[in-house]
Amino acid sequence: MSRLVIVSNRVQIPTEKAPRAGGLAVALGSGLAPGTLWFGWSGKRGHNGRTPSLHDAQGVTYATIDLTDKEYHEFYVGFSNGALWPLLHYRLDYLDYHRHQYEGYCGVNTYFAEALQPLLKHDDLVWVHDYQLFLVGQNLRALGAKQRIGFFLHIPFVPPEILDALPCGEALLRGLCTYDVVGFHTDEHRNAFLSCVETFLGLASADDGSFVYEGRLVKTVTAPIGIDAEEFAATAMRAARGAEVRRIRESLFSRALVIGADRLDYSKGLPNRFRAFDQLLERFHEHRGKVSMLQVAARSREDVDRYQQLRRTLDRLVGDINGRYSEFDWIPIRYMTRALSRKSLAGFYRVARVGLVTPLRDGMNLVAKEYVAAQSSADPGVLILSRFAGAADELKEALIVNPYDADEVAEAINQALAMELGERKERWQALRERVWAGTPKRFTETFLSVLRA
Ligand code: G6P
Repeated sequence: MSRLVIVSNRVQIPTEKAPRAGGLAVALGSGLAPGTLWFGWSGKRGHNGRTPSLHDAQGVTYATIDLTDKEYHEFYVGFSNGALWPLLHYRLDYLDYHRHQYEGYCGVNTYFAEALQPLLKHDDLVWVHDYQLFLVGQNLRALGAKQRIGFFLHIPFVPPEILDALPCGEALLRGLCTYDVVGFHTDEHRNAFLSCVETFLGLASADDGSFVYEGRLVKTVTAPIGIDAEEFAATAMRAARGAEVRRIRESLFSRALVIGADRLDYSKGLPNRFRAFDQLLERFHEHRGKVSMLQVAARSREDVDRYQQLRRTLDRLVGDINGRYSEFDWIPIRYMTRALSRKSLAGFYRVARVGLVTPLRDGMNLVAKEYVAAQSSADPGVLILSRFAGAADELKEALIVNPYDADEVAEAINQALAMELGERKERWQALRERVWAGTPKRFTETFLSVLRA
């Protein structure tokens, strides 16, 4: 069997009490075969770690490199999260492109390839992840790598009219075409990619989504990522007996809990979500004093201006809403910008009558799946899910909403709070089946079987 080599910007080295990192690293990390090599950024800045430092944990070898300050600002803060992230989430108004940052991005992608290549064995399967590393495959090829190299995008891909706004859009597309396989969470993202390939490169794809680029076959695949639902459910059950869940229950005084948990990111639609909760209290008076919302918005990418602005917007909005509706013994929105541990979240999901997952665009969104996994079969809560999350393709029995419509989301929360146990169980059973079936193993196997072939 070939060894698997995972390449991602973030690397999740398992530790005793790992805080909750980005969804991708957590999801990829569960259930990796022993012998796997995982290569990426250490998360550190400095000049020291130019050659990979190796670390073994639970049978997996982690190889990490550092970035310099300049690389961090140009590659990570600048181009990856100031240009690519907004563009690929359909936010052209947030696109902040600077050519020197793109050059920094190209430089780091080359650095990744150069640092990784000496570690590779001839029959490795190399699997590169996400938008920070579009060009690693191309750089490995330039260094003579003959291995099968695949790529997976964990965020949306956009139609040609949007990619066109990025000056280097075509160059990045060509970079993607040097992989053997390119994977996406949904057909929508995959079709958008194929449509760009046709528009920019004049290449038509076959019915199976493959095409030929410069004499090589490029395959595409749709493979929705999942969670280890069994494990998450067990965590939620354990947490439900713990001190934190007892504390939150006591603090609720039998009020219903509506929960949201996201990185503090404009793609998550947090202002829209708060406005929807505002609408709920405005239009359905019976919920005043009877329902509490807990929004965990873990601070993220704080060196990017748009994220700082968003934080100020949310601070104001929460203050405004709480100021208008609070009673001396009830606050509508509990808002925290700290990350919570996986265990606490799992327990809180289980307590929550409603899970609010309303991104404006999202590659997949694993919180939706975690919320489902955490519910008790005897008294399950209701998932409200944005139709613009990749997860909506699978989780059809959720209450599916358009997150831009505050009235619609408010009505869905109202419907969820009033929903009879019978309907809640029916919806949850259907969701449960899908979430339990979509294991991380199925995700990696789906992708790797195409990469191996
Ligand atoms: C999303 C992206 C990941 C990223 C994560 C956390 O899930 O798809 O690639 O790692 O967000 O963001 P950060 O910028 O902290 O790595």
